[in-house]
Amino acid sequence: MDRYLVFGHPVRHSKSPFIHTLFARQTQQELEYGLAEPAVDEFAHALRTFFDQGGKGCNVTVPFKGQAFTLVDRLSPRAKRAGAVNTIKLTDDGVLLGDNTDGAGLVADLKSHGVTLADSRILLLGAGGAARGALAPLLAELPSELVIANRTHAKAQQLAAEFHDLGPVTAQTYEQLAGPFDLVINSTSASLQGELPPLTPALIHTDIAIYDMMYGASDTAFISWAKQHGARQTMDGLGMLVEQAAEAFTVWRGIRPGTKQVLRELKRNLGVI
Ligand code: ATR
Repeated sequence: MDRYLVFGHPVRHSKSPFIHTLFARQTQQELEYGLAEPAVDEFAHALRTFFDQGGKGCNVTVPFKGQAFTLVDRLSPRAKRAGAVNTIKLTDDGVLLGDNTDGAGLVADLKSHGVTLADSRILLLGAGGAARGALAPLLAELPSELVIANRTHAKAQQLAAEFHDLGPVTAQTYEQLAGPFDLVINSTSASLQGELPPLTPALIHTDIAIYDMMYGASDTAFISWAKQHGARQTMDGLGMLVEQAAEAFTVWRGIRPGTKQVLRELKRNLGVI
């Protein structure tokens, strides 16, 4: 049977096996999908061993996305832009192809929530790996403006300069930000520590869309905060997780699975509904 897995550390709580098993059932593909948690300095060896032993493809998550970028034979244009690899496929001619489906997953999830990206003013919080992966797919949707704000301003400036050729992207400090924005995307890891990016509540209005790439069984700190200040449309990263997985599944199998029912089952599994 064709074998796939996700590499991460820690990875025990990954929902990828659950999601891909449902995709496989739905599309009647024969495959198995597991977990691998190599020591941080043993990822390269574990990756090679997996493919030497007949593995067909894998997902890569924290903290291995940067390493995966350097280990594959070939990079897709979107992986090159993201500077990170979250999906690897062994091609029929034996080439390890590195791809990045995170940004496409974000955009697909935003669209499935009915969020309009064309001509919109987008505020992206954070300038780490998650922000970098999101930039090209967001700019491809032709927003009127995309502003990056980051605690360490120099990193936002660097990202804006790097993606400037793709669209109207600028960097501003949290203090400089002036609304109105149509959409705020939190790509920071602040919610992981129950912290908030230092955003003024004055930027939150009833028609704004709020997206947190993090997710949990209850609202993230950022989503609770935005709701408190009047935001009506809030979304967490669970949909992005399912959509990036669907994109990876499509890369591997050439068949695009449906995501709606899988997202519903995942929510039930997490106790969200
Ligand atoms: P990821 O790959 O998830 O993006 P990362 O590359 O470590 O992770 O980036 C984390 C991002 O969250 C950074 O933009 C970080 O800001 P700094 O560049 O200033 O470190 C941001 N971040 C983390 N905790 C934060 C907090 N409490 N408030 C604001 N930003 C935070």
